Amino acid sequence: MHIIHVSAELAPVAKVGGLADVVYGLSREIEIRGNTVEVILPKYDCMWYDEIWGLHKIYDDLWVPWYSASVQCSVWFGFVHGRKCYFIEPHSQENFFNRGSFYGFNDDPMRFAFFCRAVMEYLFKSGKRPDIIHCHDWQTGLLPVLLYEVYAGMGMERQRVCYTIHNFKHQGITGESILWATGLGRPEYYFHYDRLLDNFNNTAINLMKGGIVYSNYVTTVSPHHSWEARYTDQGYGLGQTLAIHHYKFSGVLNGVDYDIWNPEIDRFIPSHYTVWNVDGKYPNKDALRERLWLRKEFKPLIAYVGRLDAQKGVHLIQHAMFYALEHGAQFILLGAGGDSGINNHFWHLKHYLNDNANCHLEIGFNEQLAHQIYAGADIIVVPSLFEPCGLAQMIAMRYGAIPVVRAVGGLVDTVFDRDNSDKLPEERNGYVFRDADFAGIESALSRAIGLWYDHPKEFRRLITNSMAADCSWARSGEHYLGIYDYVRVK
Ligand code: ADP
Ligand code: GLC
Repeated sequence: MHIIHVSAELAPVAKVGGLADVVYGLSREIEIRGNTVEVILPKYDCMWYDEIWGLHKIYDDLWVPWYSASVQCSVWFGFVHGRKCYFIEPHSQENFFNRGSFYGFNDDPMRFAFFCRAVMEYLFKSGKRPDIIHCHDWQTGLLPVLLYEVYAGMGMERQRVCYTIHNFKHQGITGESILWATGLGRPEYYFHYDRLLDNFNNTAINLMKGGIVYSNYVTTVSPHHSWEARYTDQGYGLGQTLAIHHYKFSGVLNGVDYDIWNPEIDRFIPSHYTVWNVDGKYPNKDALRERLWLRKEFKPLIAYVGRLDAQKGVHLIQHAMFYALEHGAQFILLGAGGDSGINNHFWHLKHYLNDNANCHLEIGFNEQLAHQIYAGADIIVVPSLFEPCGLAQMIAMRYGAIPVVRAVGGLVDTVFDRDNSDKLPEERNGYVFRDADFAGIESALSRAIGLWYDHPKEFRRLITNSMAADCSWARSGEHYLGIYDYVRVK
């Protein structure tokens, strides 16, 4: 099969969060199973160009219809750790992808609508006819609309779209001008409940809704979240649309790329280890403390790695930090955020705790440090308010850092409480709490810290259980191949 992923992110060159990891890991898994897999991304100025091999221009004259004229684009090709990638570079005054960061601009819907139109035009002109176009998140929601409404009539009627929703909170809710820009026009047709009309604002269109309506299959990134999206407020207004399209919607649990996230060979950590040699983990704890100027003491090391976003339960992260410091533990935070209020708050905390030798806050994005934290930490907290899948807990488990998580989304599918679970003892791998309040996170953290101090053998058992859990892409890769095969034109 020939599969093309269309995405706004790809690890490690353009990564904001888990979307980037998933597009990399899934495309690799599908490729090693004998398929042709390619990835198409915008050519951002802020990509990590060192990680792209053999980047060169392959197409200079891609004229993409835009309003009543066209925008000239170049298309670049290069390998990202073995993945075949195409990068779209528009030459227009709007400077869509040369703005120093991936997202956060008022015209984000327009930027990615342009990307969708450019991808379709490139596939059309270059004669690429994949069996499956796999689109991700709101940024690519317009692509299946363009395929069905424009390009199918131009000879692309055999291409099928699988659309994966990683985060329902960001949907690309926007105005009529996108229809005119992309050549779809006909607002009276698209501003319809059965098509792109936003379910709650009848003056807006919703790009993610377009993705759901027009794709051949829709997934979200864990089974539990597929239920939450349909039946709770976590669908952020799209539950009804999912109900209408329920026959083509399901949850497929993400995997973790075990080539990149593997303590046995990780290029960023000083001491390699496996489930058979857990002692090899501890030099990483010392090295991490040294790097971040933490005191070397007999204390568990608790960490948070992730975006600083309301989704992640910032009040609980902060509470975990102070609770840890007051209960004989050390705490490290590595995070960056798009929201300046939350970012400033954590900068303030960082200054406040500056002289505390049991605590370090690193505000920013740092892939290398993230690896070192997973390897060095004893416990990782993920107290999310909602979490479609969550990779942090699965990566932590791989590195023998015990996850302490809230029972939402993919965290429910991957972390099983040591004390209260219907799983076999050897499948229990962490601590889970329900309520998004201080008592909730304290109940789980106190048990984790208690076990570390009072029952080190039991704590080690939890480490080996975590490390032995299979969170690889193997099963999910097979699941996606099944979906591709189900929808493709045979
Ligand atoms: P989300 O996609 O919602 O951000 P996930 O848990 O699915 O959450 O994925 C987060 C990914 O991004 C993980 O690979 C995590 O290690 C990484 N990550 C998040 N924040 C940072 C950061 N500040 N520095 C380095 N890596 C980070
Ligand atoms: C999103 C979600 C996260 C998920 C990731 C990859 O950003 O917030 O839960 O793991 O996408 O699918």
